[in-house]
Amino acid sequence: MSFLEKMNWRYAVKAMNGQKVPQEKIDNILEAVRLAPSSSGLQPFEVFVITNDDLKSKIREVSFNQPQVTQCSHLLVFAAWDTYTEDRINHIFDLTNEIRGFKNEGWEDYRQMLLAKYPQREAEINFQHTARQTYIAMMAAIAQAAFDGVDSTPMEGFENDKLDKILNLREKGLRSTLLLPLGYRDKENDWLADLPKVRHAKEELFTIID
Ligand SMILES: Cc1cc2nc3c(=O)[nH]c(=O)nc-3n(C[C@H](O)[C@H](O)[C@H](O)COP(=O)(O)O)c2cc1C
Repeated sequence: MSFLEKMNWRYAVKAMNGQKVPQEKIDNILEAVRLAPSSSGLQPFEVFVITNDDLKSKIREVSFNQPQVTQCSHLLVFAAWDTYTEDRINHIFDLTNEIRGFKNEGWEDYRQMLLAKYPQREAEINFQHTARQTYIAMMAAIAQAAFDGVDSTPMEGFENDKLDKILNLREKGLRSTLLLPLGYRDKENDWLADLPKVRHAKEELFTIID
């Protein structure tokens, strides 16, 4: 199957069958998250990988009772930094210097520019920026999952503050943004399984400017 065929195969699954996804595939999906691009390369988020049934049940209660939350094999919770701090910014810049083995003036100037701008900014504005980065990473996970024949459901349908409390995210300087249950579709019980995809026509979506 080509990439596009896999993108057509995937859909936001509404019922999963509880079958376990092999660890190797989970590792691939998490690696895709790790490799996802982010603004300035700051990767301003963490991902929680939940297999514990009790915890999944608690999360389902604050996710409008969406069944995939407990029927999935692994539940990914994307949690964005609550704000940018000097330490958080310096960490990735120092890591870059360490991994590449040299310091670059342009890169150091860029660090200073971010340090002068981000930590002083209102936390809520920073969170809106960090949260956006989690959507890119989630799409990388969705695509890798589809590539490996694993189903997933992107989810914003949950009560963020309540989930933050369940996972003690605020204490860790994080705020939940997205859920991504990973598993296998339950074709018999999923009303969406055989329905065609609905997308805007190309003409509505794309403007070609030569
Ligand atoms: C950010 C985001 C949040 C979503 N939240 C939910 C959700 O809470 N529950 C759900 O069943 N589907 C959710 N969806 C799935 C969308 O409804 C679905 O992707 C869209 O209708 C396109 O259909 P397809 O993904 O099946 O091709 C979400 C999708 C995105 C991208």
